[in-house]
Amino acid sequence: MTTTSPAWHHLQSLAGNGNEISISSLFTDSTRLNRFSLDIGGLFLDFSKHRVTPEILSALIALAEEKSLHKRIDELMAGEIVNTSEGRAALHTALRRPSEDLPDGFADHILAERKKLAALSTKIRDGSWTGHTGKPIKDVINIGIGGSDLGPKMMTAALREFHDGPRIHFISNVDGAEILSLLPQLDAEQTLISICSKTFTTQETMLNAKTALTWLGEALALDNPAASPQCVGITGSPEKAEAFGIPGDQLLTFRDSIGGRYSTWSSIGFPACLAVGYECFSEFLEGGAAMDQHFREAEYEKNMPVLMGLLGVWYNNFLGAQSHAVIPYCQRLQLFVDHLQQLDMESNGKSATLDNQAATTDTGPIIWGQTGTNGQHAFFQLLHQGQKLVPIDFIGIKNDNLSNTEHHRVLLANMVAQAQALMTGKSGEDAHRYYPGNRPSSVLLIEELTPRNLGMLLALYEHKVFVQSVIWSINPFDQWGVELGKQLATNILEGRGEKDPSTQALLEKIGLAG
Ligand code: F6P
Repeated sequence: MTTTSPAWHHLQSLAGNGNEISISSLFTDSTRLNRFSLDIGGLFLDFSKHRVTPEILSALIALAEEKSLHKRIDELMAGEIVNTSEGRAALHTALRRPSEDLPDGFADHILAERKKLAALSTKIRDGSWTGHTGKPIKDVINIGIGGSDLGPKMMTAALREFHDGPRIHFISNVDGAEILSLLPQLDAEQTLISICSKTFTTQETMLNAKTALTWLGEALALDNPAASPQCVGITGSPEKAEAFGIPGDQLLTFRDSIGGRYSTWSSIGFPACLAVGYECFSEFLEGGAAMDQHFREAEYEKNMPVLMGLLGVWYNNFLGAQSHAVIPYCQRLQLFVDHLQQLDMESNGKSATLDNQAATTDTGPIIWGQTGTNGQHAFFQLLHQGQKLVPIDFIGIKNDNLSNTEHHRVLLANMVAQAQALMTGKSGEDAHRYYPGNRPSSVLLIEELTPRNLGMLLALYEHKVFVQSVIWSINPFDQWGVELGKQLATNILEGRGEKDPSTQALLEKIGLAG
């Protein structure tokens, strides 16, 4: 068991004074910055502002060794059944591998889908794929939720500099105000509806799809709008999508072994690919593959996802932190935090271990955040003077082609100043003006927000999540916790099931009591 292992005990004894370690004083070691930073080309990580001594870092690495992390990474990448509760592999890393290096049994499907994705997106972008009345596509409504929305939406926003394709409108929430407000703004003749769902059964997606297709059918007098060239499906269940009415040659597919929150690399990336083009999409895949190689080959001391994962374990399991903030100093990365929330919390928000026992360690933290400098004027008060320990990842873009020197200097100066202020603190003439400091953060500096570097960044966080799941002995690839609420919503809509008095009263108030 994790908590009785020698490395765990050693870390517990070190944690005894972990909260008393003064980060600032650790810099008396002139080699600290060098030892606690890492440049892997495209991404630079400064993790020197942490309550971590070289001894603590060694103990964390010993914990990773005890948990056979390298072996587990190899198993993940070799396509072994790592998602044990569903009996599946987790093959997202295969999706980004170069063509000549694809795993047996999956290569044909991955190559065929890449070809279809390239062909379809290119035809739509160059206008040779036209709508029902022969006009090119100008707008795309992308309908999907969770992993079938967050990744491609984040990618499209992050790569705005490269967006030269049609406008993409992401609809995820079943809140009708979203889709019903969007439709009147669009020209039905030039709008493509892209329905993204691994299962092709998700309630929100199916209802939004029905609403969008009804609008299209009425506007263009189509009996079967799903079969028109203005509807495509992206799915892991092609038989369901065909039964829904979308012809097989208008479907892009991916396999069961690709989890929703890890599916941006698959055909689910279609809307982002439409926005920026297949060449950029390939560069994004290459960035992911470069991070995979680094993760597989670099020794723990120089391995970015391993180090980030272990730092998180230190705060989560030994210093009592309940949450972890991610603050990108780049407005185009605003949705990166939303995506990370699903990636991290749907993966590691678990209470059962791999061998189906109740977990005895704390597992995944609450992930939250917002862009800087906006967050500075909202919740940073708590970060500086509140009582909660919140380790932070600051993410900055070194060179930004869409900004100018004046703005960019101000933006990055703020990021560096926040990390500095959180660490150094300041004595005050009274309690209100006192900043305790000693608050830990990392700075992750991205050379430029290119498709390749975005791929590296996303894969970095995917692997960080995996590292932590290995330490906690949990399965990061299932999500049983989301099922109960879905079932009860169906029961309510169908007027079935027992209800407690509070639930019953609410349903009566809303008019849903049946
Ligand atoms: O809400 C849970 C979930 O199953 C996610 O894991 C998934 O990304 C999302 O729903 C959407 O599922 P689908 O792609 O099957 O519509």
